[in-house]
Amino acid sequence: MRNILITGGAGFIGSNFVHYMLEKYGDYRIVVFDKLDYSGNMANLEPIKDDPRFSFVRGDICDVEAVRTAVREHQIDTIINFAAFTHVDRSILEPGLAVTNNVIGTQVLLDIAREAQLERFHHISTDEVYGTIPDPARSKEGDPFEPRSPYSASKASAEHLVYAYYVTYSLPVTTTRGSNNIGPYHYPEKAVPLFTTNAIDDLPLPIYGDGLQVRDYQYVLDHCEGIDLVLHKGALGEVYNVGTEVETANIDMARKILDLLGKPHSLLTYVTDRAGHDRRYALDCTKLRALGWRSRHTFDQALEKQCAGMSPTKTGGVRSNRARTATTTSANMSSVHSDVAFCATRCLTR
Ligand SMILES: NC(=O)c1ccc[n+]([C@@H]2O[C@H](COP(=O)([O-])OP(=O)(O)OC[C@H]3O[C@@H](n4cnc5c(N)ncnc54)[C@H](O)[C@@H]3O)[C@@H](O)[C@H]2O)c1
Repeated sequence: MRNILITGGAGFIGSNFVHYMLEKYGDYRIVVFDKLDYSGNMANLEPIKDDPRFSFVRGDICDVEAVRTAVREHQIDTIINFAAFTHVDRSILEPGLAVTNNVIGTQVLLDIAREAQLERFHHISTDEVYGTIPDPARSKEGDPFEPRSPYSASKASAEHLVYAYYVTYSLPVTTTRGSNNIGPYHYPEKAVPLFTTNAIDDLPLPIYGDGLQVRDYQYVLDHCEGIDLVLHKGALGEVYNVGTEVETANIDMARKILDLLGKPHSLLTYVTDRAGHDRRYALDCTKLRALGWRSRHTFDQALEKQCAGMSPTKTGGVRSNRARTATTTSANMSSVHSDVAFCATRCLTR
C-alpha cells in the first residue's frame, strides 16, 4: 500500500483521515477524489495542500472514466471509499441521490478496483445498516441488516456489493462500520455540529420527538485509527464495527453542548420526529478490539473538542451558522493539527 485514492476526502471524516494518514505515514501518497458536493470543502484540506505527497482530483465516483483515469494516472494501489450522500434527512427528501451516490458509485469503484487489480478496496460503512436495536442488545458484524431509511438502505446495498465482489471476483476488500462521529471539519447539518453552532448563535436546538434516541458518539480520529488498523491488520472479506460502546440520548448530548458553551437549556426546542427515526444504535466492537484497538476519547472529551473548535473565542466572534459552515480559522487549525499529530503518532501495536 503506497498510493491511496481516498474518495470523499474533502468531507468530514475523509479529510480527518487524510490528515491522519499523512501525519502517520511518511511514504504514502494520498490522492483525494471528491466531487465537492455541498458537504465537501477544500478548506478541510488547506493545511496539506502544498504537501508533495498529496493530490486532489475533482470527480464523481459514478463517472467510470474519471475514476479509471485517476487510478491509472496516480498508479493507485488502494481505494478507501468515504464518498457518500450522508444525511438521513436529505435521503428522505431525495432517495434517488442516496442510491446513485452510495450504490452506483460504490459499484463503479469496485469495477475499477477489479479492473486495475488493486491491492485493497476498503469501504466505509455505518452502524445504521443494522437498523434500530432493542436495549440491551448490541450489533455484531454477522447480524442481519435491517436498514430503515433510504440512506441506511443505500449503505447496506453498497456493503452487499463489496462482499459480492470479494466472493465472486476475489477482490481484496475490507469494511468498517462506524458509529456517529464528532470532531473538526464537521458540516453543521448533523445534530452535534448543528446544535453547537446554533447554541453559539443563541438559536433553538431542534430536538426530534422526545429526544430519547440513543447514539454511540465517537471522536473522529479514534474512528480513523480503527480504519487504519483494519487496513493494516484486518482480514480480507471481513467487516469490523468501530464505536465506543457508550450510549448517549440525543437530549443529553444537547444539554451537554449547552452546558459546555454556557447557554441556557431554554434553547432546547422539541420538533416533530423524523419519519422512521431509529431509536437506538449499539455496536459490539469486540472484533476490532481483538486487533488491538480501543477508543481513546470519552464522549465528554470528544464533545469538548468539538465545542472548543467552534467556540466564538477561537473563531474571533460569533458568525452566522451558514458562514461558519465547515470553515476553521488558523487558530483552530493549529489545535486540530496538534491533535491529529498526537493520534497519528500512536503505534498500531499498542
Ligand atoms: N458522519 C458520521 O457520523 C458517519 C458515521 C459512520 C459512517 N459514516 C460514513 O463515512 C463516510 C463519510 O461521511 P462524512 O460524515 O464524512 O460525510 P460528508 O458528507 O461530510 O462527506 C462526504 C464527502 O463525499 C463527497 N461525495 C459525495 N458524493 C460523491 C460522489 N458521487 N463522488 C465523489 N465525491 C462524493 C462529498 O463532496 C463530501 O466531500 C460516508 O460513507 C458515511 O456513510 C459517517
